[in-house]
Amino acid sequence: MPALIAIRGLRKIYQMGDENVHALAGVNLDFNQGEFVAILGPSGSGKSTLMHILGFMDTPTEGSIVFEGQEVSGLSADRRAWYRSNRVGFVFQSFNLLPRLTVLENVALPLLYREDSKPEANEAAAKIALERVGMSHRLDHRPSQLSGGERQRVAIARAIVGAPAIIFADEPTGNLDVKNISRILELLASLIKEGITVVLVTHDLAVADHAHRIISMREGAVQEDRQR
Ligand SMILES: Nc1ncnc2c1ncn2[C@@H]1O[C@H](COP(=O)(O)OP(=O)(O)OP(=O)(O)O)[C@@H](O)[C@H]1O
Ligand SMILES: [Mg+2]
Repeated sequence: MPALIAIRGLRKIYQMGDENVHALAGVNLDFNQGEFVAILGPSGSGKSTLMHILGFMDTPTEGSIVFEGQEVSGLSADRRAWYRSNRVGFVFQSFNLLPRLTVLENVALPLLYREDSKPEANEAAAKIALERVGMSHRLDHRPSQLSGGERQRVAIARAIVGAPAIIFADEPTGNLDVKNISRILELLASLIKEGITVVLVTHDLAVADHAHRIISMREGAVQEDRQR
């Protein structure tokens, strides 16, 4: 089976005045459907930069990304938005829920950008996603009225509402206690069983221990990539 994502020679250079920051210095990686991958590496090694590019939130300076058979490294902003709302989900350490919207509205939000978007269908899909993460009892709450663990479950509901092929999670457990961490890990494991691919960045070795594959990054490159 061809890789879900095939990355070749990926570079990201940030220009800071006279200095070039090589955040990604030639990354080659394949991600396959249903994999649970953890990415480790010291601060500044390029983990978030890689997640943002693969999550269609940023573009590379150089290199190729073939996503589900299509070259996507040079897409227009419109096409990237399409991928964000249809093919990938993103979970952040700081949840990134919109404070003025309710839980239900936050989760339905990615569907608003779809061409066939319909309010009733979006709401129904958001309710199903919230049920998945055990948050059906908080539909009308605002994010500030939730605990950290609950906010992250809502963020996961938002990431899965569009039935993505892959979820990128950048330190999703970084702000959570042990009990909530294990709840989030259980949730991610249940997504993988359904064939969704999960790529998770973490500094927590106990969290990485749940993954089937561990990639270590260093100075913008893959230092180690091992199956377990
Ligand atoms: N928008 C930006 N402009 C300039 N430099 C940037 C930008 N974003 C990241 N960098 C630089 O690129 C490098 C990689 O950053 P990145 O955020 O990907 O690291 P990281 O591995 O996610 O680190 P952490 O574990 O601290 O989150 C760092 O040297 C950082 O300073
Ligand atoms: Mg980071």
